[in-house]
Amino acid sequence: MCGIVGYAGARPALQIVVDGLRRLEYRGYDSAGVAVLTETELLIAKRAGKLANLDRALAEDADGRIAAGSVGIGHTRWATHGGPTDRNAHPHLSQDGRVAVIHNGIIENFASLRTQLEAEGIEFASDTDTECVAHLLAAELRTISNTSGPAALAEAMRRVCRRLEGAFTLLAIDKEAPGAVVGARRNSPLVVGVGDGESFLASDVSAFIAHTRDALELGQDQVVLITPEGVEITDFDGKPVEAKPYHVDWDARAAEKGGHDWFMQKEIEEQPQAVADTLRGRVGTTGNILLDEVRLTDQDLRDVDKIFVVACGTAYHAGLVAKYAIEHWTRIPCEVELASEFRYRDPVLDRSTLVIAISQSGETMDTLMALRHAKEQKARVLAICNTNGSTIPRESDAVLYTHGGPEIAVASTKAFLTQLAACYLVGLHLAQVRGIKYADEVASVVEQLRSMPDAIEKVLASMDGVRELARELSSQNTLLFIGRHVGYPVALEGALKLKELAYMHAEGFAAGELKHGPIALIDQGTPVVCVVPSPAGRGVLHDKIVSNIQEVRARGARTIVIAEEDDEAVVPYADHLIRVPRTPTLLAPFVTTVPLQVLACEMATARGHDVDQPRNLAKSVTVE
Ligand code: F6R
Repeated sequence: MCGIVGYAGARPALQIVVDGLRRLEYRGYDSAGVAVLTETELLIAKRAGKLANLDRALAEDADGRIAAGSVGIGHTRWATHGGPTDRNAHPHLSQDGRVAVIHNGIIENFASLRTQLEAEGIEFASDTDTECVAHLLAAELRTISNTSGPAALAEAMRRVCRRLEGAFTLLAIDKEAPGAVVGARRNSPLVVGVGDGESFLASDVSAFIAHTRDALELGQDQVVLITPEGVEITDFDGKPVEAKPYHVDWDARAAEKGGHDWFMQKEIEEQPQAVADTLRGRVGTTGNILLDEVRLTDQDLRDVDKIFVVACGTAYHAGLVAKYAIEHWTRIPCEVELASEFRYRDPVLDRSTLVIAISQSGETMDTLMALRHAKEQKARVLAICNTNGSTIPRESDAVLYTHGGPEIAVASTKAFLTQLAACYLVGLHLAQVRGIKYADEVASVVEQLRSMPDAIEKVLASMDGVRELARELSSQNTLLFIGRHVGYPVALEGALKLKELAYMHAEGFAAGELKHGPIALIDQGTPVVCVVPSPAGRGVLHDKIVSNIQEVRARGARTIVIAEEDDEAVVPYADHLIRVPRTPTLLAPFVTTVPLQVLACEMATARGHDVDQPRNLAKSVTVE
């Protein structure tokens, strides 16, 4: 939420910062702005609305002075304090015009800080919490006399951060500190890019991946100063800190649309590769499953007597699917909880509880807070995450990275399938460590998992009918989804995609629950998407959903049935049939989810929406 970029080097900063913002726009698109330091001036430009509005403003800038600076910061906003207007757009300036600041997060004590500053005669130019920081920095800079330039700016930032409460990533530039950008982070993402004679700061590496793939992880409560000469990191008290370097294993092309209209289409197409990459190299020489970072012993895992999966949105749905496999393979009770609710109901957690936190971004605040709550209660935490070096894996006892590559569309697609693959590997690992499954049994499930990329490829090759159907259905007001067993979370996921992209009423139900109320929603012609399990798996499951399809059809529903290629039993009850390849019951979501992603993407397109940047949303939700 909110994208942040900073650059210090020898090249013109403006273009680098604006290009970085373009790659971060998925994090928020309520406004965009930049501030640049030239040899003599601090210049800013900002506009409400998408980045295109800022582009236009910059293009109309007659004298082009702003293009000259070689130090710059940029921000793309998802509004929290203050509406999405020009005046609330970042950067914010101190009253004396000396300092410009951008911010991601929420400064929780901003009201008292603002009152103090106003009492001191400061007049605020915006309704944001961020503006306080600009005024506080300027005030601190006036009091620092023993240092000057970049060092003074870093010291001022440390002093200000010690007064702030809440979550923040902050970047600032100062007219009196040429060549430098200072950054700080607490509970909000910030990574450092290390180039040749230039340095970068950003919410994530995609902002600078075109310039360098060498990055540094920043820890909690740290201040970083970048200049063309290098990077200096300290904690908030000024103690030097050694940052962990890492190399990004994908390049700039991975973060481009590659000929597609939407990132979402590209990411749907990338799913076979993303799942294959997540599974690659996971089986060790003795047939054991390999996680990425494990700070837990096998005995810790053998002691686990309860599992909680915590996650939000699509990642939560991945957890709901995984529960079926984890319980089936490990025989450990597994609960799946919305991360935003978890800590408020005082869950029973102890040393023998394993909490699995699933997050594509690794920065979702609700999930992070659930994780921290679990750790306070001494539970063990295992993260499933797509973003190297992000906060959730850093704070976990063990990590399995999904190797999905960058996901830029706000709606999660490849993250979901790779999270499923990762959860299944974790389930197999636990079963193996606890002696419930032998290496050959694990190997046979891994083989089935490895056949999923081909199966997904087959589904993708047969989506023309779904695209046509999407256009036909695009004028509907409501769409319902039903499923049983692992098909139930798939139904929830199908409905979520449609809500967030097509802005229409869509709901997912456990098919057996319909008769307890929701069946009253069915009217003549109501489209109902039915996710049908394999007839070859648990026959009873299949028969039951066929009955449910008949029930809705008898009440006028138009049925859209997703079923295996040789499932003839559904044919008489399907107004529209979507075929998927035969898969083992537990793995069916790898193929049944894909048509629902395509359906939502196409329906949103047909309704004229921006698929990659749906209204009111942003990716990587770093506020609670
Ligand atoms: C929906 C979607 C969101 C995310 C959720 C969690 O398409 O993308 O529901 O799944 O915000 O995000 P991560 O996985 O980054 O924690």
